[in-house]
Amino acid sequence: MTECDTEVPLMQKEIRIGIVYNLKKGIHSQAIDHEAEYDSIETVYGIQNALKKNGYQASLLEAGKDLPGKLQESGVDFVFNIAEGMNGRGREAQIPALLTMLDIPFSGSDETTLCIALDKAITKRLLSTYRVRTPKFTVIKKGERPKISGLQYPVIIKPNAEGSSKGISDISIVENRKELLLLVDKCISLYQQDFLAEEYIEGREFTVGILGNGSETKVFTPMEIVYKKGTQGEYHVYSYNVKQEYKKFVEYHCPSGIEKSIEDEMISTAKLIYEVLGCRDFARIDFRVSKEGKVYFIEINPLPGLAPNYSDYPMLAEFCGMEYDTLVTEVFRAAAKRCGLMQQEGDLIER
Ligand SMILES: Nc1ncnc2c1ncn2[C@@H]1O[C@H](COP(=O)(O)OP(=O)(O)OP(=O)(O)O)[C@@H](O)[C@H]1O
Ligand SMILES: [Mg+2]
Repeated sequence: MTECDTEVPLMQKEIRIGIVYNLKKGIHSQAIDHEAEYDSIETVYGIQNALKKNGYQASLLEAGKDLPGKLQESGVDFVFNIAEGMNGRGREAQIPALLTMLDIPFSGSDETTLCIALDKAITKRLLSTYRVRTPKFTVIKKGERPKISGLQYPVIIKPNAEGSSKGISDISIVENRKELLLLVDKCISLYQQDFLAEEYIEGREFTVGILGNGSETKVFTPMEIVYKKGTQGEYHVYSYNVKQEYKKFVEYHCPSGIEKSIEDEMISTAKLIYEVLGCRDFARIDFRVSKEGKVYFIEINPLPGLAPNYSDYPMLAEFCGMEYDTLVTEVFRAAAKRCGLMQQEGDLIER
């Protein structure tokens, strides 16, 4: 029995939750990671079962063009949102924007936060104004000749608006202009979007999970991604391929054993970023720590993956003693409380 089971009688849980998601379709494309960001049905069932075990019933609503009708027919009063959306750099904001318009409360960050965070360049510029240290970068526009003056090689080339390491491989690091031109050409023709050229930060890599809102916000202990010796070349990249076969390439250490002052800096920077971007309920933030011990913000995921036994967010929570079903339920509860659907810990109220 989880701690959630003990708190709430079933009667109080009669809220109609809909889980809204986009599934991988198995559509073939030139890029093997074409559908990287989408979820598998196992993740959707994992969330549904987690909520069920804790007494909450949830129906399943796939986020296609017919979603507005489905939402109205199903009569859901709350959405647990994991939908990535479709097309364009603002796609993660599509479902939250629709739900806001329909006045249906939902879990996770709102459309504005999701829109900003999916654009790495905009996020980095915004956070720089709060003195968050982030690697130097420039945007390489589709159709324009790459100019990266002012940056020092090695440089990583990655899509400006993707997640799940889509478009990032072990050959994403370039050491000179010739390599840059070749790679950018290949990337832009394959992914048809703007790319980021960013100084490669050699050093240790961490991801930091956050759960909750306001004074109840919890930051999990930073989890280190440790690359297994001999499995990668000169540069360590948590690439699409590495994520697919993570057991072969990496180990996860939590706690990591890094100096307390550096860990504290990552935690306080993660909190600041969460607040500045107006994140809600949960998020995951990636950092690199240079050899000199400087903490660099890499990117934020305000809609972190929730694939059981795969995604980093449930993994780092488990290291901190919070198993999957509890984590999912806590995300829901944080959202329900924020939306005024819960009076106190666990007590749902009628809308
Ligand atoms: N500036 C950098 N210096 C060093 N490594 C980097 C840098 N930027 C990205 N990487 C490597 O590439 C990986 C993927 O990059 P990033 O986190 O930006 O992509 P993503 O697709 O948004 O990831 P996620 O799956 O977390 O959404 C990082 O985890 C890191 O290993
Ligand atoms: Mg990342």
